[in-house]
Amino acid sequence: MSEHPIELSSDPSRAVEVLRNGGLVAIPTETVYGLAGDVEHPEAIERIFTTKNRPPGHPLIIHVSDLSVAEQWADLSSPIAQELAHACWPGPLTLLAPRSSRVPDIVTGGRPTVGIRVPAHSLTQALLEEHGGAIAAPSANRFGRISPTTAQHVIDDIAHFLRPEDDLILDGGPCGVGVESTIIDITTTPPQLLRPGGILTEDINRLIGDVNASSGPSRAAGMMASHYAPLTKIMLIEQGDPLPDGDFDGICLIDRTNDLADAARNLYADLRTADASGVNLIVAVMPPAVGLGHALRDRLTKAAADQHPGSANRDG
Ligand code: TXA
Ligand code: MG
Repeated sequence: MSEHPIELSSDPSRAVEVLRNGGLVAIPTETVYGLAGDVEHPEAIERIFTTKNRPPGHPLIIHVSDLSVAEQWADLSSPIAQELAHACWPGPLTLLAPRSSRVPDIVTGGRPTVGIRVPAHSLTQALLEEHGGAIAAPSANRFGRISPTTAQHVIDDIAHFLRPEDDLILDGGPCGVGVESTIIDITTTPPQLLRPGGILTEDINRLIGDVNASSGPSRAAGMMASHYAPLTKIMLIEQGDPLPDGDFDGICLIDRTNDLADAARNLYADLRTADASGVNLIVAVMPPAVGLGHALRDRLTKAAADQHPGSANRDG
């Protein structure tokens, strides 16, 4: 591990202490690592934005231990909300629901809705049960860059922007799912799929009927054309397409199309490894648009969309 000044721990109680003191904790979830602050500590929430270099106004997902706690922060009384929450929580599903007055504006960017989920990672479950409240956490990467799926990725990306005296990285090992949560807006009829993710689109459709996939500029702030971007240029090809001609020493091929769970678990590490290897082109084979393939195609498309640093079309 590289030199870094931030405390690493695998003790959820230590994380709760840091959060209660207004510090930030990088938390493991089943999807990706998040950068968490206590929803009721406004200065901690502000520091999430500065640490990530994320523009203000981009709303944060809040994380709670179970449905009964979630109901203190969002209106989840509709049959669709209950159906989805009972079927998918704990797990990689975020519901966009009317927020309760308890959620501060800084978390939602002043929106009437809040994104809320119950993560499935055992350490973060233990943390949330002991904490009892809500923690806000975007992915723990710098704005527009590749999401972290190990504690080492978090260290590489943001350790030097954290405060050694206040903050903590909770090390829960590599994330099991590897792509972010599925986001469903349940305030529209029919509900809208805003981001494909760890809960399969097919499963959502089975549970509540067909959802509208968002098209054009998404209503979810920050879910823009470009995101999850490596520094190396990335070219996308479909299965069966020929590889580009040229010097293969300078090309890194990412093709895990034969196992989509494995592809999701490794996507961000693969992009990071390719970036670090010094190649001048990443060629990624697009998985089929089924199951986790929906999320993988979405992330790869965004990774390739616009790789100019400082682009306005960035999320974090
Ligand atoms: O799997 C995940 O969801 C991870 C882990 C850490 O939980 N979190 C995550 O957060 O991916 P983030 O901030 O990187 O992506 C959340 C997306 C952003 O595009 C944000 O703008 C959108 O969800 N979002 C959150 N709350 C929203 C709201 N109230 N209205 C519209 N969009 C919202
Ligand atoms: Mg993110």
